[in-house]
Amino acid sequence: MKIFLDTANITEIKRAVELGLIDGVTTNPTLLSKEGREPVSQLREIIKLVHGPVNAEVVSPDADDMVKDAKPLSKLGKNVVIKIPMCEQGLIAVRRLAEQGIKTNVTLIFSSSQALLAAKAGASYVSPFVGRIDDISGNGMELIQEIVTIFDNYLFKTEIIVASIRHPVHFVQSAMIGAHIATVPFNVLERLMKHPLTDRGIDAFNKDWEKLKNALKSKPH
Ligand code: E4P
Repeated sequence: MKIFLDTANITEIKRAVELGLIDGVTTNPTLLSKEGREPVSQLREIIKLVHGPVNAEVVSPDADDMVKDAKPLSKLGKNVVIKIPMCEQGLIAVRRLAEQGIKTNVTLIFSSSQALLAAKAGASYVSPFVGRIDDISGNGMELIQEIVTIFDNYLFKTEIIVASIRHPVHFVQSAMIGAHIATVPFNVLERLMKHPLTDRGIDAFNKDWEKLKNALKSKPH
């Protein structure tokens, strides 16, 4: 499973790139607005740091404007993917951009029918939001299973990005179901590395090692 980082924060992206585990980055208008900088220059900096796909979202309500906004964004780098919100106008824009060889990620997917239509429209990626479904007492991971089954049934090339991941269980379940990509916030990436028994184990090994060194030091030669 590929791992994308779900952030527009440069410090987080640099740390994740250094780890060597990051296959791409997803941003959205909320994540970019948290950084408080001019978004295009923020995106330029992200694109320089990341080798894999960098997702930048358009916010216009109609297809013509979405396509118009997508064009300069797609020129920022070869690895730019245009995020398009799931709606009728969005699907029209996806089809037009696909015809021009511009990759898209249809975002704000909350049902498998939406994912199927986005794939048929020519999306390179779809982003179902598991955390937001769980927030309203639904089951986000059931949606991922449905989409994986449907895409497998019809051999769609569209990749599934599990988005709105809130905790490590979402990540592990995504891998078990066979989603192509999980996009994780930095705090989830940190939690994926950690286990209290690992910390306790390292601590005990270090203490025992010190004990042995001290015992050897006080032994007569
Ligand atoms: C990524 O593509 C999505 O925009 C993001 O995962 C949404 O996460 P949220 O539901 O925590 O805002």
